[in-house]
Amino acid sequence: MRFAERLASKAIFLAPMAGVTDAAYRMIARSHGADLAYTEMVSVAGVHYRSEKTWELVMPHADESEIAVQLFGSLPDQFEEAAAQVAERVGEKLACIDINMACPVPKVIRKGEGSALLDDPDRAAQIVRAVRRGVGDAVDVTVKIRRGRTAGQELAPAFAQVMEDAGAAAIAVHGRFASQLYRGASDWSCVERVADAVSTPVIGSGDMLDAATVARVLAEGRVSAVMVARGSYGNPWIFEDAKTLLEGWSVGARGAGERFDALEEHIRLLVATGAHLARARSLFGWYMKGMPHASELRACGMACTTLEDYLSLIASARQRLS
Ligand SMILES: Cc1cc2nc3c(=O)[nH]c(=O)nc-3n(C[C@H](O)[C@H](O)[C@H](O)COP(=O)(O)O)c2cc1C
Repeated sequence: MRFAERLASKAIFLAPMAGVTDAAYRMIARSHGADLAYTEMVSVAGVHYRSEKTWELVMPHADESEIAVQLFGSLPDQFEEAAAQVAERVGEKLACIDINMACPVPKVIRKGEGSALLDDPDRAAQIVRAVRRGVGDAVDVTVKIRRGRTAGQELAPAFAQVMEDAGAAAIAVHGRFASQLYRGASDWSCVERVADAVSTPVIGSGDMLDAATVARVLAEGRVSAVMVARGSYGNPWIFEDAKTLLEGWSVGARGAGERFDALEEHIRLLVATGAHLARARSLFGWYMKGMPHASELRACGMACTTLEDYLSLIASARQRLS
């Protein structure tokens, strides 16, 4: 499905998150109503140097219908090569290639990657054109940007126009400056200014932490879609709940039983998709948040090493709370 069609009615996406949005996480989000789910950012240099670990981040699981693959790097040639290979290997399941121009991590910026590209719109435009050459006409190319590099210096609206001219099919905007990392509030008026500046669809990101906020932004804002990132931690229902609210219905909080079921399903999916079980540790903390004895359960979760350890801990926690 092309992006214009995908965004014809307001959509809710699972945002790219390094170390989080693996196949299991994406499948859970999609099964709870996310309209698209992104891989974590994948290095074009990793593809160039044929790193197997890099391909583990890219390839969808057999049970995934489609994925958005996010690439990061600084060299247009490497982007073109990586995009062509991703398109070939992922094939029909590739919904789009997204280019990361948002990452604020110093070791990424130092190499001219991620949000460093906001300061170099010419190179960023070359990268968009290179990725488009790499994937051909059949696959959409999108970009994800931040408000700007340095607090107070908003670059996003003008930068988005350059991306649109280079052929970006949609522009995702996180309304924080890179220098803020995740501090302070995401400025949604910046997202609106980008939507005013371009005719390309705009996807908003930042502080989509509960279903009510997602529904409100989609109902009132000019964005075509929003991305949910940290709001999905331990709350895969955020996608379907936001849609229910948009339809005018109300939603209730999930009880302990339903949360244990979801956690168990998520951990089983980690195993089924061949992910490292260490990922279950953070899942445990996220799903337990706000439950009675949460900190004690989290501490026990840290000691688990096998699927059986996790399942028996969940079983005893269920008993204790029943
Ligand atoms: C753990 C973590 C990893 C992230 N990794 C990426 C990434 O790989 N690529 C990217 O474009 N954004 C990444 N982000 C940013 C999110 O996609 C999103 O834009 C940001 O968290 C703001 O949304 P939120 O306030 O709703 O969490 C990451 C965020 C978090 C919390």
